[in-house]
Amino acid sequence: MLYLAFESSCDETAVAVVSSPEGKDEFTVLSNEIASQVDVHAKYGGVVPEIASRAHIEAISALTYKALSDAGVTAADIDRVAVTTEPGLIGALLVGVNFAKSFAYSNNKPILGVNHIKGHVAANYVSGPVKTPFIAFVASGGHTSIIKASSHTDFETVGRTLDDAVGEAFDKIGRRMGLNYPCGAAMDRLASEGDPEAFKLPAVHMKDGSFNFSLSGLKTHVINMLNTAEMKGESVDIRDVCASVTAVICDSVVRQLNECVKRYKVDTLLAAGGVLANSHLRAALTEFCRKKGLDLRIPPISLCGDNGVMIAAAAKYEYEKGRYSDMSLDGRPSSKDDWKSY
Ligand code: KG4
Ligand code: ZN
Repeated sequence: MLYLAFESSCDETAVAVVSSPEGKDEFTVLSNEIASQVDVHAKYGGVVPEIASRAHIEAISALTYKALSDAGVTAADIDRVAVTTEPGLIGALLVGVNFAKSFAYSNNKPILGVNHIKGHVAANYVSGPVKTPFIAFVASGGHTSIIKASSHTDFETVGRTLDDAVGEAFDKIGRRMGLNYPCGAAMDRLASEGDPEAFKLPAVHMKDGSFNFSLSGLKTHVINMLNTAEMKGESVDIRDVCASVTAVICDSVVRQLNECVKRYKVDTLLAAGGVLANSHLRAALTEFCRKKGLDLRIPPISLCGDNGVMIAAAAKYEYEKGRYSDMSLDGRPSSKDDWKSY
């Protein structure tokens, strides 16, 4: 089966062609086109929704032609269309949804709406069979969730951030230190040169027995600390700030995941989302899973950020359960609790 998948929920327009035989956990990525708007938004210090929507419109047609031609296929060869419908910036989502619907309608192909977070998790399906049930940890610029999955398609959120997402905290703290948006990758590099114990920072896991996170306390603490130092004319080594922030986040994530795998008695842990490009978090999760004998799956860095391949991979398992959308398919800024976007 040949999948054409679209992703436009935030600041990346992405189109991919992926081949996967029916009923088998095998994937061949034939093309994976991504037009990033990061440079456009960097000067505003964050994503400007209106600009994002316009940039998606400018990019999506040419990107689709390129995805098809790089894959060596034509529109007629596509068997199934998939598109991110939620959660995300509504104007941005609607560009992908409308384009995908037009493609499906004019080429007489089936279409399926896919949840973006399910997509991030599904980036792990591409690199080999994944055993179920599993616990998934997703951390990106807009989302931080712990999910209990009983199958590749049946998800239940068991933990989430109550305020800022992990990537958002990196971006806001990084911006205060004068780094360019998005700041995660730069903070990752700087953290490698700093002392993770230089500052005592508040943990980001909730201590109420839930699997939730709260990052606004950490963010405010660090920003106040930087403001105070500035007022006193003291210098702060931002490498130490990056290392300490990263260490406290990694520690809290590992603690919550440890409790979660114990509670649900699973031995497979999937991690995904843009923040999983973080070398320290990857190392912390690898060490944790090695100690606990857990099977850890993290996508290659190229599939951690937003992409179309992950949307195709999620759609495959939904389609194979007989799930289809129709031409009333719409976008939604937030997810429904039942995880169904079709
Ligand atoms: O998944 P993604 O590409 O887009 C969303 O769905 O939000 O995630 C983007 C987020 C940004 O907040 C960015 O700063 C963060 O991922 N990020 C990182 C790293 N690379 C990207 N955070 C920490 N370390 C990194 N190496
Ligand atoms: Zn994302």
